[in-house]
Amino acid sequence: MPTPALPNLQTGPRVGNITLPNGLFAAPMAGVTDRPFRMLCKQLGAGYAVSEMVTSKRELWATLKTSRRADHSGEAAPIAVQIAGVDPAEMADAARYNIDRGAQVIDINMGCPAKKVCNVWAGSALMQNEPLALAIVDAVVAACAPQGVPVTLKMRSGWCASERNALRIARAAQSAGIAMVTVHGRTREQGYSGQAEHDTVAAIKAALSIAVVANGDIDSPHKALAVLRATGADALMIGRAAQGRPWIFREIAHFLVTGTLLPPPAVREVQQWLTAHLHDHHALYGEFTGVRSARKHIGWAVRALPGGEAFRQAMNRIDNCRAQLDAVRDYFDALADRYTLLPSAADIAAIEEPQRLAA
Ligand SMILES: Cc1cc2nc3c(=O)[nH]c(=O)nc-3n(C[C@H](O)[C@H](O)[C@H](O)COP(=O)(O)O)c2cc1C
Repeated sequence: MPTPALPNLQTGPRVGNITLPNGLFAAPMAGVTDRPFRMLCKQLGAGYAVSEMVTSKRELWATLKTSRRADHSGEAAPIAVQIAGVDPAEMADAARYNIDRGAQVIDINMGCPAKKVCNVWAGSALMQNEPLALAIVDAVVAACAPQGVPVTLKMRSGWCASERNALRIARAAQSAGIAMVTVHGRTREQGYSGQAEHDTVAAIKAALSIAVVANGDIDSPHKALAVLRATGADALMIGRAAQGRPWIFREIAHFLVTGTLLPPPAVREVQQWLTAHLHDHHALYGEFTGVRSARKHIGWAVRALPGGEAFRQAMNRIDNCRAQLDAVRDYFDALADRYTLLPSAADIAAIEEPQRLAA
């Protein structure tokens, strides 16, 4: 029998009344997927990008950190905000607060293993307490329903190897009105170690009628296709592989439609994307914080490039926006003199090593 055609993810799943622009999602990453980075991912092919988590603690909503996280100005719809917390009533309040500030989708965090979250029993720790997890789901769905805002859930495969309860939670969440479930194929206990498995998400996809999203270690177009084949998921979510390489979304989109790989982007394109991203980043955070928090994005962008490590170290000593932008310009101008397309590790080995030996 012929294998059924795979969805190419050009049309995204439906979440409540919203059809997402495509099925390639940027994962929420605290400290990374702020508005400037989400906008860059969307520009380069992501159909959907969930904000960094916003705490359910009302007393923290007025802090600069949380208000920056709730800033969506200029971002392409739909605006999706992730909330994290442990108290159903507080989570319901947090959902209403973010809807008032433009959220069109509310995502509940049951996936984050970070200590800061787990110490207060939020994130993936909630998976250990199913009644509480479902009380949160009920409260948030009830708070969002009058506004017609769909609620989604992001979780891991379970708390630990012997407690892989994602399927049970997903079933109950669907019955409670959750509109989409994302599963990172690791347990809380695993942190980020080992390989993500995608059997759990395949089982959830087979059991549920709402949209199901696969997440974990998707870092190339081939891996994306393999995960899609193994799970039948409605969408794929990509986190760490988009750090410094946000064009991975368009690379995967192209591959799923054509079966061929896009060439690497031009050095000048990468330079332009990074420079525009830095301008947006500095504008959101201001000079002092902006220069410092932009360093990780620059470091990721150059990490596999010639002289990238030395440049990263030198750049970490720069403490004003103008000098940071000038350093990035000089680095990429020099790179563009030697390469038209962004060089791969193989290109670098073939070109740089003979030059080094000849010197
Ligand atoms: C720096 C960092 C911050 C993260 N922050 C969040 C978060 O705020 N909320 C959340 O649900 N998951 C968070 N995650 C988990 C990611 O969304 C994703 O599930 C995980 O990285 C696995 O996907 P990947 O292998 O594509 O990176 C974070 C991951 C990283 C690396």
